[in-house]
This record gives sequence, C-alpha cells and structure tokens, in this order.
Amino acid sequence: MFVYLETSRLVLRRFTVDDVDDLVALDSDPAVMRYITGGTATPRQEIETDHLPAFMSYYDQGDRWGFWAAIEKQTGTFLGWFHLRPHDGEPEDEPELGYRLKREAWGAGYATEGSRALIFKAFTELGAKRVYAETMAVHAASQRVMEKAGLRFVRSFVSDWPVRIEGDEDGDVEYALTLSQWAAQGGRDL
Ligand SMILES: CC(C)(COP(=O)(O)OP(=O)(O)OC[C@H]1O[C@@H](n2cnc3c(N)ncnc32)[C@H](O)[C@@H]1OP(=O)(O)O)[C@@H](O)C(=O)NCCC(=O)NCCS
Repeated sequence: MFVYLETSRLVLRRFTVDDVDDLVALDSDPAVMRYITGGTATPRQEIETDHLPAFMSYYDQGDRWGFWAAIEKQTGTFLGWFHLRPHDGEPEDEPELGYRLKREAWGAGYATEGSRALIFKAFTELGAKRVYAETMAVHAASQRVMEKAGLRFVRSFVSDWPVRIEGDEDGDVEYALTLSQWAAQGGRDL
C-alpha cells in the first residue's frame, strides 16, 4: 500500500481499482452529494470509467499532487477522500484542496485533520506557493473546515455549474492561504 500521508487518526493512500464499491457508496448518499450535484448519486459506471481512472492517473505523474483515499487508521475503514492538485490550466504550485467524507465520519474533525496535514505537506515538501479551496456560499460546514485549516476568505463569485443546486443563487466562495501568510503565522502544522 502506498501511503501518501499519515496524521494521528488518518492514513491517506493511493486509490486502487478495489475502491470502486466504497466510492459508489460514498457518492450514493444524497447528504454527501447535496452541495456537489444537488443530491444525485454518481452512477457506478461513471466512477469505474471516469472518476477512478482520473484519480489514479495522477500516480503515473509522481506523488506530488492527486486524489487520496482517507482511511481511519485504527479500524482500516474507508472514510472518503481528499484531493490536493492544481486545476487544469492553473499554476502547478497553486493546488486546490478538496474533501468528501462519508456521513458517518462527519463532525469528528477528520476533514480538518486531513486538510491541515495536506497544507503542511504542500508548503514544506511540495513547493506550493498558495493553497486554495472553493465551495458554495451556503455550504457552512465546508467553509468552517477551510477556516480551521487556516485558509482565509478571498472572494465570492458565481460559477457556471452544470446543474442547478438549491442555494446556488448565493454563489460560491474561495478561501486560500499563501506560502508567505503560512510562514508569517509560524509555518507550522496548525
Ligand atoms: C464538509 C465535510 C468534508 C466536513 O467534514 P467533517 O469531517 O465533518 O469536518 P470537521 O469535523 O473537520 O469540521 C466541520 C466543522 O463544520 C461545522 N459544521 C458542520 N455543519 C455545519 C453547519 N451546517 N453550519 C455551520 N457549521 C457546521 C462543525 O461544527 C465543525 O466546526 P467546529 O469544529 O468549529 O464545531 C463533510 O461534511 C463532507 O464530506 N460533506 C460532503 C462532501 C462535501 O460537501 N464536500 C465539500 C465540497 S466543497
């Protein structure tokens, strides 16, 4: 098993083809998908032929950026995933942070724990100059994770989302932390 990162309670590892069922289950929960698709599940075929191959394609390019399965260390349970990678066409040293966890795992601080560790790795090992994250303005839990991970509000904006989601009239928000801001606040694992 290739471990990308360990925190006190989580292991972030590479995805494998054996993760299909867990990904299907994750994306089948309307509560998980609420701020992503409006609650619609991702079809299994799309996960098999699109999402998982896209996740795994990062590993051929080395282990700098990518999508990582989040495993609860103590039990070995699949909790969901994190991503840390630049968006297509954006600077290589400005990765976007993202996360999607099973409902059973919410409220235990896992998203914050994984995010903080990824941000620390981004600035100390991976050469990031800026880490950012985006979510819907109405998605308070995700914004709280961003704040607790040390990201700061940058802007509100309206994105061209392919589906209509309740609350999208309020637009989206971007949070970010630059290398210099991170260094100024002690350059440590927050
Ligand atoms: C968003 C998500 C990753 C948060 O994961 P998590 O592990 O529960 O996050 P944490 O426990 O680290 O922190 C959540 C924080 O949000 C707060 N929170 C949760 N629901 C909230 C709400 N409706 N309003 C305001 N704050 C809320 C929690 O109280 C906690 O803050 P606190 O520690 O100050 O009390 C998780 O809910 C998830 O995976 N959702 C589905 C996928 C998704 O929406 N991903 C993000 C897309 S941008």
